[in-house]
Parts: sequence; C-alpha cells; structure tokens
Amino acid sequence: MRELAGKTAIVTGAASGIGLGLARSFAREGMAVVLSDIRGDRLEAALGEVRGLGAKAIAVVTDVSDRASVRAAGEAAVKAFGALHVACNNAGITIHGRSVAELTPPEWEWNVGVNFYGVVHGLEVFLPLIRRHGGEGHIVNTASIAGFQIGGHRRSGSYGAMKFAVVALSESIAYDLKDTPIGVSVLAPAAVKTRIYTSGENRPARFGGPYEEAGNNPFQRELDDGLEPDVVGERVVRAIRNNEFYVFTHMHTKEWLLARHKRIIDAFDECEKWIEERSLVIPADPGQAKREPGESRNP
Ligand code: NAI
Repeated sequence: MRELAGKTAIVTGAASGIGLGLARSFAREGMAVVLSDIRGDRLEAALGEVRGLGAKAIAVVTDVSDRASVRAAGEAAVKAFGALHVACNNAGITIHGRSVAELTPPEWEWNVGVNFYGVVHGLEVFLPLIRRHGGEGHIVNTASIAGFQIGGHRRSGSYGAMKFAVVALSESIAYDLKDTPIGVSVLAPAAVKTRIYTSGENRPARFGGPYEEAGNNPFQRELDDGLEPDVVGERVVRAIRNNEFYVFTHMHTKEWLLARHKRIIDAFDECEKWIEERSLVIPADPGQAKREPGESRNP
C-alpha cells in the first residue's frame, strides 16, 4: 500500500508507547487516525497530540479482550471516516518475573485475552471493514522479538507464548490474503521506550483489576535505553509501503534468531540417527507435488 495520505488507520493500544508512536507516524503521513485504548484517561492527551500534528482523529475507549468492544471501535472508525484501510492490532500486556508454572488462572486469562484474543478480535472485526471498500489495505500485528525466541531471564514465558501465537496467526492470515490488495506485517521489536513493564496498571476488573509492580522493576528501567516509539512508527510506515511481512527493528536480535534456529535444525541430527538405528522407512510427504519448493505442510 504505497499511498497513505487520506486513508484511515485504527491503532489499538494507542494511548501509550508503540501504539502512540504508530498513531503519530500515521498522522504525519496525512492519514486519519482512530486511537483505541482501554485507558480513557490517557486517550484524551494522545488524541490532542495526534490532532496537533494536523490529522483528523478520534479516540475510542476499547478493551481488546472483549469482542463487542472491538466491534464498537471498528464501527466508530467507519462512522467517523467512511472507510478503514490500516489496522494495527497492537495493544499488549506483560506478566514477568515468575515461572509460567506459577501463574494463576485469572493471570492466564488476562494474558490470553489481551495478547492473543486482542489480535483475533482485531482480525475478526477490522479485516471485513477493510475488505468492504475493495481497495488496498494493510494489517499490522504487534508481536515482539519474544514471538521468535524466549528471553529466559525475564521469565515472561506466558507473554512469549502469546507472541509466538501472534506470529503464527500473522503467517496464516498473510497466506490467506496473498492474492488480495491487503498486506500483512508482523512487528517484532526488542526494547522500545514504553510503559510495557508496568502494564499491571491496565488490567481490567474482570481479570483482577489494576495492580502495581511490587518493589523496583529492573525490566522497566532497561527500556530507558530502548528505541523511541516514533522510530518504530516510522519503521512500520516503511513496512506498509514496501509490504514487508516480518518487521524487525534491532539488528542484534538476528543473532538470537540464528542461535535458536541452529538449535532447531541441529535437532534433526538425532532424528536422522534414530531413523538409521531403527532402519525405519518413513513415508515421503504426500502433498509435496502441490506445493511451492520449501513451502511446509502442517500435520
Ligand atoms: P505500553 O504499555 O506503553 O502500551 C500498551 C497500550 O496498550 C497501553 O496504552 C495500554 O493501556 C493498552 N492496553 C492494555 N490492555 C489493553 C486492553 N485490554 N485493551 C486495549 N488497550 C489495552 O506498551 P508498548 O510497549 O507500547 O506495547 C505495545 C505493544 O508492543 C504490545 O503488544 C507489546 O507486547 C509490544 N512490544 C513492546 C516492546 C517494548 O520493548 N516496549 C517490545 C516488543 C513488543
């Protein structure tokens, strides 16, 4: 999607951090912006900033874990600006500092509700709205570099599990949309200067209500050296224009992925040994003839 000026974007999680960076970047491109966030108190200021850049904008209080709330945000976007072109499923939360085995059922529900269902609801609601006008569009799902490898020391495996799921959802929807004018990107940053490690303050009542991080929070402090959200917004604008699918922001993360993928590929050595030891004949992949070279088939 090359031409952004005059088009409409909706961004979830737009009252802070990367979402606000996306909203400001779209505003600078001359787009109309719908800022959607659970934090009504922060949305007002965010809306003022985006309008201050000369953009048409509205704000809609939304809980992305609630399908009806996301539907209302989509309807508000179309009502205000007539059509939707870009949808950023970006709102997210993190639970960290504890083993995945120690999380409570409501903590899992909150994590799955926002980080996974937030994206599912966005696809369910925003994609039909983009399709409705028949023209170009783009979906941006915010995963994380944690959607490609688990950074063990943060002990945020429940977050990572959902971010892996967002990458899988994105790969799947990109396949479904490959012959359409709608592009897909999955955003995978490392540290960005945002409030993500204090996201306990954004927990809805039905998952236990807001809480404050106990004691000092070293992970939040690490983000002080992170990228500015507007730089990430600019990166996403480029990705939309060039129809990039995987959107990385930090070169050092390439080493992390190389190490992880080497570990996975190396594990085939044991598979090969086992086949030889047992003299097994494993049937060849029956659907191969119908696929592109290198294209996989899920079992
Ligand atoms: P942030 O905490 O500054 O912004 C997240 C926004 O989402 C907040 O305004 C919050 O109110 C909103 N939100 C939380 N729960 C919501 C809900 N149920 N419904 C609607 N809005 C809700 O954090 P940040 O970092 O800007 O997070 C944005 C996305 O970026 C998240 O998906 C996060 O996982 C991802 N990310 C962040 C990285 C970082 O270093 N900050 C790195 C990689 C990915």
